[in-house]
Amino acid sequence: MSYSRILGTGSHLPSRTVTNADLEAIVDTTAAWIQERTGIEKRHLVSDDETCCDLAEAAARKALQAADVQPSDLDLILVATTTPDQFFPSTACLLQQRLGVRGCAAFDLQAVCTGFVYAIGVADKFIRTGSAKRALVVGAETLSRVLNWKDRGTCVLFGDGAGAVVLGAADQPGIISSHLHADGAYKDLLQIPGGIGNGHPEACFMEMKGNEVFRVAVTTLGRIVDETLEANGLAKSDIDWLIPHQANIRIIQATARKLDLPMERVVVTVADHGNTSAASIPLALDQAVRDGRIRRGELLLMEAFGGGFTWGSVLMRY
Ligand code: ACO
Repeated sequence: MSYSRILGTGSHLPSRTVTNADLEAIVDTTAAWIQERTGIEKRHLVSDDETCCDLAEAAARKALQAADVQPSDLDLILVATTTPDQFFPSTACLLQQRLGVRGCAAFDLQAVCTGFVYAIGVADKFIRTGSAKRALVVGAETLSRVLNWKDRGTCVLFGDGAGAVVLGAADQPGIISSHLHADGAYKDLLQIPGGIGNGHPEACFMEMKGNEVFRVAVTTLGRIVDETLEANGLAKSDIDWLIPHQANIRIIQATARKLDLPMERVVVTVADHGNTSAASIPLALDQAVRDGRIRRGELLLMEAFGGGFTWGSVLMRY
């Protein structure tokens, strides 16, 4: 059986930045509150004419270039997103057309903030079973389009962006294991209640019971760390880098404490990006790969928690 490994990474952020101070003019908040409770200092937001697929395409092209892979070499395109350009075709199909290729499998995957972890888990299985040799996996979001800009409990938390990796078949892992979970019983704590299927397309704005989500996220992410280490017979000290979903610095610090990992071994982008949902992990990964922190052969743990609830982890040797 073959394994999958990352051949290249890429990311892209919209050029428009919005600081916490800028938000003081929009909702009843203070820059200090946002910084203290979340660690966020600014976020990038799309302009009116920018779409999720624009961000995905820019990140994908950089990942393909870093991997030295041509779009025509791909046999799978997977886009993790909660904010597709349109109901259909999928953003993955739109991206395939932008990349100028035809015929390979292309689909979107929706697991909110856990989307990229889910997508890596799925693409890895395609490659392990021989169904694909090269896969483009993208996490791309324009969550600013589904925020209620009058709700200070949510609108200050999120940003837009995209990250991508190219996975290729390899004799050695690469991806060592992925652990994917969900529990729909928590659907009311974090949701966009509107949709076409339920006849309420007008209600497409995020609602979150933030402090209840926070409590479940911290304990659940602690469990997924244990599960991942146990499944692979590893000790905490074996992990070189934690690349967490970037929702809140306090959640990230709690997971790092659980791993006895100093914050210098945790890739943190939440201050500059906010929570970019499915894009946050590949954005963080690409940043740390490009600035030379993460090196080939190191052991990486990615973990995420999001709406659904969904949660999961990926352990990989980079
Ligand atoms: N500015 C000022 N005050 C605010 C703001 C704001 N932007 N937002 C809320 N407050 C107020 C509240 O109204 C409340 O006031 P009250 O005490 O008078 O009622 C007070 O601050 C405390 O509110 P809490 O919600 O208890 O604040 P908390 O410390 O929990 O921080 C936060 C809120 C940042 C949302 C935190 O709960 C959090 O990070 N939750 C988890 C988010 C997350 O991980 N989501 C999952 C991924 S997202 C996805 O899947 C799409």
